[in-house]
Amino acid sequence: MDGKDPVDRALEHFRGIIQEQMSRVEELNHAEDWVDYEGIKPIIIGVVGGDGIGPIICDEARGVLEFQLKEDTMDGKVQIRTIEGLTIEDRVKVGKAIPDDVLEALKSCHVILKGPTTTPQKGDDWPNIESANVAMRRELDLFANVRPVKIPDQGIDWIFFRENTEGAYIMGSKGVAVTDDLAFDFTVTTNQGSERIIELAFEHAKKHGINRVTVVTKANVIKTTDGKFLDIARKVAGRYPDVEWDDWYIDIMTAKLIDPARRKQFKVVVLPNLYGDIITDEAAQIQGGVGTAGAANIGKRYAMFEAIHGSAPRMVDEGRAQYANPQSMMRAVVMLLGHIGHEEKAAELEKALDVCFTFEKRIETTGRPDGATAQEISEYVMETIQDPNLEDKWSSFQKELGVEE
Ligand code: IPM
Ligand code: MG
Repeated sequence: MDGKDPVDRALEHFRGIIQEQMSRVEELNHAEDWVDYEGIKPIIIGVVGGDGIGPIICDEARGVLEFQLKEDTMDGKVQIRTIEGLTIEDRVKVGKAIPDDVLEALKSCHVILKGPTTTPQKGDDWPNIESANVAMRRELDLFANVRPVKIPDQGIDWIFFRENTEGAYIMGSKGVAVTDDLAFDFTVTTNQGSERIIELAFEHAKKHGINRVTVVTKANVIKTTDGKFLDIARKVAGRYPDVEWDDWYIDIMTAKLIDPARRKQFKVVVLPNLYGDIITDEAAQIQGGVGTAGAANIGKRYAMFEAIHGSAPRMVDEGRAQYANPQSMMRAVVMLLGHIGHEEKAAELEKALDVCFTFEKRIETTGRPDGATAQEISEYVMETIQDPNLEDKWSSFQKELGVEE
């Protein structure tokens, strides 16, 4: 150690953090406008394979994306490019969550389709560098992590708006071990950061005629930061008199998600980063597993689409990577298509995915050799999108399950 008093060293560190965040708030005050994809030609889509099962499931999702955008690609309206260099090996080599040249390549795209990347944790085989996901969300200011979960025959249609750039994540690698015995991490909440995500949730509700936004915090205990999030929610809600809202604490919310009577009432849920991380895994599990859910990471300028789960190194170690379920990445493609203005193509792909994964299930992955491979699933999905009877098939499955349209 440098012989300095540990308290002074920690205070100095804390001062640096505060200053950094003060500048960030300043920047948030000058936030740019939403990008308009209609005026962009070509829309550049970067594809990042990731680690572990990432390249396998990402490749299959890319095939579906390319198919849906075939005409646009030929007309020069869309360009799909591969971005190399974001594997854990590459990141470890330069000791950075995202190598500089990769960050530059990402910033030369408008939207990104990303396979899961491995996040080292303290004590494992990799040096403890920051998560590439978390860094990308911060660097590209992807403040909204939007995660839909649907179980049509149980009346579940949730969409989670997880704050994606603040909270417990913002200081990920900047906590301070004051002494061997004493460690601090930090959580940060700003008015600007809370307002933009809560507003997006209310806007979504308004646009889709959904009369319920649920705000989730632990404001009874985490009074300063979660208290702020809830205060801002109250303020934003005041601007949407036609959308009802309620607030829940994260603990009871977690319980209510497995209460069949209550859970149907939730629709749009908005919450700080860490709670959003946890509860969306729970929600995805209720839907059928984390392999079934995709996520959109939306910012005003950039957007990134990914699976909600990790890179499953265990599947790779056990030689089962080819049996991974590409559904999560394909659901991410649905969101990507919708985001760049291809609502119809998005809806068509979503119907095909519903038929393949929820209704018909002619083949299924189990993660093991007794199930289908990612490639077989992809062929099944491609065949289904091209099925002239897709629409009818989807509707009759809906009816069979008693789903109200
Ligand atoms: C997610 C993941 C990431 C997160 C990890 C990989 C850092 O769990 O996207 O939910 O915690 O945000
Ligand atoms: Mg998570």
